[in-house]
Amino acid sequence: MITLTINGKEHQFNDDGDMPLLWALRDILKYAGTKYGCGKGLCGACTVHVDGQPVRSCVMPVSAVANQKITTIEGLSELGDHPVQQAWQDLNVPQCGYCQSGQIMSAVALLDREPNPNDKDIELAMSGNICRCGTYQRIKEAIHLAAD
Ligand code: FES
Repeated sequence: MITLTINGKEHQFNDDGDMPLLWALRDILKYAGTKYGCGKGLCGACTVHVDGQPVRSCVMPVSAVANQKITTIEGLSELGDHPVQQAWQDLNVPQCGYCQSGQIMSAVALLDREPNPNDKDIELAMSGNICRCGTYQRIKEAIHLAAD
């Protein structure tokens, strides 16, 4: 039996431990805000926080995150008004929107460790999050706005 603590709530999870965290989140526990993109740790769509650090949940076995603090996009705020989410809304960042929860989770992790990042910090921190619509410039502006 594995205990997953997600957004402050404990879930008992009966699995051999090899299941990727993304499947547990989406298919079993119904936290559907975290998205499946590549399944290979390459696109960032599945980014969540584990003890405050951004991780690719598609390549993270549940056994590796047992008893750690997991935060998904649903756990950032009750009403979608975390300062980073608010900046995303103010600047209309998303186009299709599919990658954006992963983008936001990476941006929040960046701002938690570097409250006032410069362009280079942002490019480096966000380089693992791919957006097929090319919203990169708006993402950068929104991170600066959230940092103000
Ligand atoms: Fe996990 Fe692409 S779905 S990195």
